Amino acid sequence: MSRPLLSHAESVWLATTAELPGITVEVLPSIDSTNSELMRRARAGHHEAVLLVAEEQTAGRGRMGKGWHSRPGQSLTFSLGMPFSPPDWSGLSLAVGVSLAESLDPQVQLKWPNDLWWQQRKLGGILVETATTAAPQATRMLVVGIGLNVNRPEASAVAAPAGDASGTAAVAPAGVAELLMGITAGELLERVAPALVRDLRQFESEGFAAFQDRFAARDALRGLGVRLSDGTSGQARGVSAAGALRVQTENGMREVTSAEVSVRPC
Ligand code: BTN
Repeated sequence: MSRPLLSHAESVWLATTAELPGITVEVLPSIDSTNSELMRRARAGHHEAVLLVAEEQTAGRGRMGKGWHSRPGQSLTFSLGMPFSPPDWSGLSLAVGVSLAESLDPQVQLKWPNDLWWQQRKLGGILVETATTAAPQATRMLVVGIGLNVNRPEASAVAAPAGDASGTAAVAPAGVAELLMGITAGELLERVAPALVRDLRQFESEGFAAFQDRFAARDALRGLGVRLSDGTSGQARGVSAAGALRVQTENGMREVTSAEVSVRPC
């Protein structure tokens, strides 16, 4: 199998190593899921920073227990694992979305909590997980998984099962190459990964406060009617200082955390 991403590994390493000393950048031809692999390594006691990129995932995972189907050669799939100890974890997954959106283009918006949207279609998604390495060196490890559509799928792929990067099989996902004029997966990795490392470091020291206004500037749901997966509907009113979605319902203001529900514009 060809490995077009491999030639980008060194420049990504050079651009991240000052911020994250000791980081390694690995490119694998195929793996079940880059997030699953870094979670396994963390649970086995590895606490080094790793950027793991896969040309192909055979069992990619999405948020809320869904699968994540990505097409080899048409998507960028990678995970960043690192020791992480912010005083407050609230809003972390939103901050990751802000980082990616800012690296991509001013037109890219965020659909709470962290779907990347462009022209009403999903460009990519983010899966944030944590694991604690085994004692005696118990270290909290962060694993941030990113899946970005690079090229828009053929019409036949749009009806693919749930977990396609569209998140909704009915709407064709967008591809970053449409927005950024033919960018390749490797070029995209060089564009987003160093900024992601920098922004995670900023989150570690300043928390979501450094990202709240930046999220608001790209909030795709603000002011829209939304329906939550628990049946509630209302109007989206931005995000709280802890990154919760504020929804004005007929029973008053509700703050929704990402673990509870999914949300759709209606
Ligand atoms: C979502 O929108 O549901 C999140 C999708 C996250 C997909 C990425 S692809 C790289 C990493 N490995 C996985 O198995 N999932 C994440």
